[in-house]
Order: sequence, then C-alpha cells, then structure tokens
Amino acid sequence: MKTLTITRPDDWHIHVRTGAILKTVLPHTARQFARAIIMPNLKPPVTTVAQALVYRDEILAALPEGADFMPLMTLYLTAATTLAEIQAAAASAHVYAFKLYPAGATTNSDAGVADIRAIYPLLAEMEKLAIPLLIHGEVTDEQCDIFDREKVFVDSQLSAITANFPALRIVLEHVTTEEAVQFVLAANANVAATITPQHLLFNRNAVLAGGIRPHYYCLPIIKRESHRQALLKAATSGNPKFFLGTDSAPHSTALKETACGCAGCYSAYAALELYAEAFESVNALDKLEAFASFYGADFYRLPRNTGTITLAKTSWLAPASFGADDLQITPLKANETLAWQLVAL
Ligand code: DOR
Ligand code: ZN
Repeated sequence: MKTLTITRPDDWHIHVRTGAILKTVLPHTARQFARAIIMPNLKPPVTTVAQALVYRDEILAALPEGADFMPLMTLYLTAATTLAEIQAAAASAHVYAFKLYPAGATTNSDAGVADIRAIYPLLAEMEKLAIPLLIHGEVTDEQCDIFDREKVFVDSQLSAITANFPALRIVLEHVTTEEAVQFVLAANANVAATITPQHLLFNRNAVLAGGIRPHYYCLPIIKRESHRQALLKAATSGNPKFFLGTDSAPHSTALKETACGCAGCYSAYAALELYAEAFESVNALDKLEAFASFYGADFYRLPRNTGTITLAKTSWLAPASFGADDLQITPLKANETLAWQLVAL
C-alpha cells in the first residue's frame, strides 16, 4: 500500500468554538496537528489577553486524555483595541497574533473593523512589536459582487497596509483568488498566506451546480476553476509564503441547511487526507510536508515539530455527521469517498 510519512503538521487557521461543539471537534484536530492557531470570533469575541487565557483553558480542558496539542491563541482586533493590549499580547507566551475582520465580512464579524485607516496606529504598534496580523481579506461593500470581494480588498486595502507598514508580519488568510496569490508573491517576505483544503479541491460548481450545497459554502466563497488552479500551483510550489490553514469552521447541520445558511466548511476530521488528495492530483505529494509542517512554523518563528504522522492511500467513506443527536455537524465530503487515511501517529 502506498503510504506517506511526514513531520507532524500544524493548522495555522482553525475555528474550534466553545462548549459542545468544541468537545466534538477538538479531538479531530488534536489527533493530526501538534499546534493550531485558534480563531477568536466567538460571541462575544476574544479581544483581550485575559479572555484568550480563559478560552485557552477551556480548550485544554476539552482535549482527550493524553493528547499532545498546543492551542496558539489570537486576539480579535477592534476599533477599541488599545496599544496596551497589543503590548500585552506581544509579551504573552500564549497569544501569537491579532485577527482583523472587516466588520460584517463573515461569521461573528460584527465587532470587526469598519475603517481600517482608523486602526493604523494599532498596526504600527504590531509592526514595531513584530506580532503577526492575520487578515480576513474581503471588502464588505454590499455593492461589491461576492466573487470580487477578495480581489477588491487586496487592491483597495491590503496594498495600502503593506505600503504603510512594510515590516508588518501579515498572513492573508484563506486566499481564494489568483490575484491574492500574485499579491503575496510580489510582497515582502513578511507577507504570507494560508490555503484551505476546500479551495484547493473544489471550484464554485461544487457549491452551486446541480443544486445548492450548503456544506461547501464558506467565506471567502469558493471561486472559479482558474483560481483553484492558481491556488494549487501556489500551495505546491515549495514557496514558504504559502502554508496550511484549514479554516475548518463547524456549524450545526441545522444552521447550514436552512434558508440563510452559515458560512463554513467542517474539514478538521480529515484535514491532512483532504490536502493529500489535492497535492496528489498534481503529482506534488513531495511538497506536502513543507506546506503542512515547516513553512507555517518558520513564519511564526516557532520550532518545527518532531514526530511524524503517516497517511495511507486507502479509500474510506466520510461519515454523514459528527456529534450527539442534538448537535449534528455535517463535514465537508460527508458520505463521500476519501482517498487517503491517517493510519499512524
Ligand atoms: O466560512 C467561514 N466561516 N469563513 C469565515 O471567515 C468564518 C468562518 C466561521 O467562523 O464560521
Ligand atoms: Zn476562518
């Protein structure tokens, strides 16, 4: 049987939520990944170091017995964030970045930033203290076509941020377009990007053709095939600016399968398997280890993991759902065949 053994990876972008959802999804991530950057878009958002430490304790308490996993906390940037909070975050052993959500861009982003220029003094402090800024790169202008929102953000906002703060360490999260890839490639070495499995595996037909498939709906929305090809090329290029971030974002099946469904794909249950399928599709399995296990750690200035995981080329059926009867989470590729399976830790 064909197998693939790589250094234990990290997930540089994940939503694990709280409470019952956290308990359901966290074991999936902790099984594969040594560390993960935990998104702060809770209700209410995690905006202070003190809140992040409470959330971190909840995550640690939800880990299965014997799990070897470290949550890397982030703070939700708002117009009310203070310079003192940025200094506290930079000094904290547990907070690794700030997350910028343009107000209204996605799930629980109401508290996000409406006017990015107004928070430039905060970005200056982050640049000075070398704490990374993680960006949800979409404009929220209702007049802007949803398929153009990332490209317009890159042109109108991101280029101004990088021009004004050339040393700011930036991760453009979950890139979905050729334009975003080109921007990151042309930017300084301190500008990087994460790429999700769904944006590598699917184009927008998966969401919309032959029926609306809510479990493929996420933000930024999956784009047309040419963009998927650009993302695949970037992810498998061996360029350290591109690394793994699943953006696994669980919502209950009820909140996805409804007239106005939530954005988010639940991929954590088989994250590496999904990436392996994408990399294999372009004969680039040899590039998976660095994308999954090296470049992100290097960007965050953390040691690379020791230990390995092994995947085998063996097909299996993804479950229809996870969780208790009163909390069902339908995963990406539910009831579909996956080509790779994690076999050893
Ligand atoms: O699809 C998404 N879901 N995109 C995001 O940016 C947020 C996430 C969530 O928290 O559900
Ligand atoms: Zn996200």
